[in-house]
Amino acid sequence: MEQQPRWKASRRSAVDPFRAMDVLSEANRMIARGEKVISLAVGQPAAPAPRVALDAASKLLADGRIGYTDALGRASLRERLSRHYAEVYGQDVPARRIMITTGSSAAFNLAFLAAFDPSDRVAIASPGYPAYRNILKALGIEPVEIEVDTSCGYVLDADHLAAAHRERPLAGVLVASPANPTGTVTPHAELARLVAFTQEAGIRFVSDEIYHGLIYSERDTTALEFSDAPIVVNSFSKFYCMTGWRIGWLVLPEDLVRPCERIGQSLYISAPELSQVAAEAVLDASADLLPVRDGYRRNRDLLAARLPELGFHDLAPIDGAFYAYARVPEGEGTSTDFARRILHDCHVAITPGIDFDTRRGEAFVRLSYACDFAALSEALDRIAAHLKA
Ligand SMILES: Cc1ncc(COP(=O)(O)O)c(C=O)c1O
Repeated sequence: MEQQPRWKASRRSAVDPFRAMDVLSEANRMIARGEKVISLAVGQPAAPAPRVALDAASKLLADGRIGYTDALGRASLRERLSRHYAEVYGQDVPARRIMITTGSSAAFNLAFLAAFDPSDRVAIASPGYPAYRNILKALGIEPVEIEVDTSCGYVLDADHLAAAHRERPLAGVLVASPANPTGTVTPHAELARLVAFTQEAGIRFVSDEIYHGLIYSERDTTALEFSDAPIVVNSFSKFYCMTGWRIGWLVLPEDLVRPCERIGQSLYISAPELSQVAAEAVLDASADLLPVRDGYRRNRDLLAARLPELGFHDLAPIDGAFYAYARVPEGEGTSTDFARRILHDCHVAITPGIDFDTRRGEAFVRLSYACDFAALSEALDRIAAHLKA
């Protein structure tokens, strides 16, 4: 007789898989077999971290003493980020409100734990970055998904938020601008309205600014421009090309600094010191990073022109980040099947939209254009040949 397992995994761990990571694993297995796969599946810059970051890390490695830092992070990096807010946004953000984290992923855990209680309701946009939903659920917080689409430019706005709050009060809202998977930017005036509404309604505003630096139309706007109350999440993974270094930061309202520090002490002790040192150096490497962004801009223009020609309609406005989100061409079935066929038949990895939108996502796919231009052109040629066949 088959034995029943004695212990079960917790109910809170029953979150959806992050399918982009599953596609990546499959693509990596194919690459390991010697197949020439072009990956448009993950939001990872193809460019390496700038030389100054590598040099700063090498110097520390040569010294060999790499230890814990304060739970809030190295004082010099926090000071440098404070200067970053003054220089880039003209905002006075004191270093004492800045916490260094193990990527923005750890920042979400810390912020959600410090700001919300189990069964609190937190609004997020759908389609949206799946980890928001999964982390909130794992922490016993209820994600309230607000559907956005082409009719509102894929922007979650203050009217959506007010309607959801009227239905049942929200404790928080998380907005990413530019957003993943759509690349949409929340316009400056709308961000101001959102922050004002949350202040009035007593809702915590969490602003995911991880794609700042990668915006192709207007300038970056931080939610801190409108108030000191928002929790800002940011990272060195995207503009700074440092995904694997696992380093990010939080800007916290005063009341959450000590709670996040206390939770951080026990959850992580500190972010890796080596990465903190490299991150401090990379903040002076804009000259190396702007050409990388120019490359994304070229990729974006190529996608904006070619995707509709290939039958990918309802393209979200590609204003920032490095993603295009569009409807699967007619007659190609669900996005999961389409992505599987594209991977196996033309060796191009793309992400099914179901990751980002559990209700409507089977009709959409996300393509990441953080690769180089030649790879992107080749990938589109392969998809075009497949669609014609
Ligand atoms: C919108 C958004 N936020 C956060 C993250 C997590 O990034 P990291 O933990 O590398 O800082 C990602 C990664 O793709 C993302 O797209």
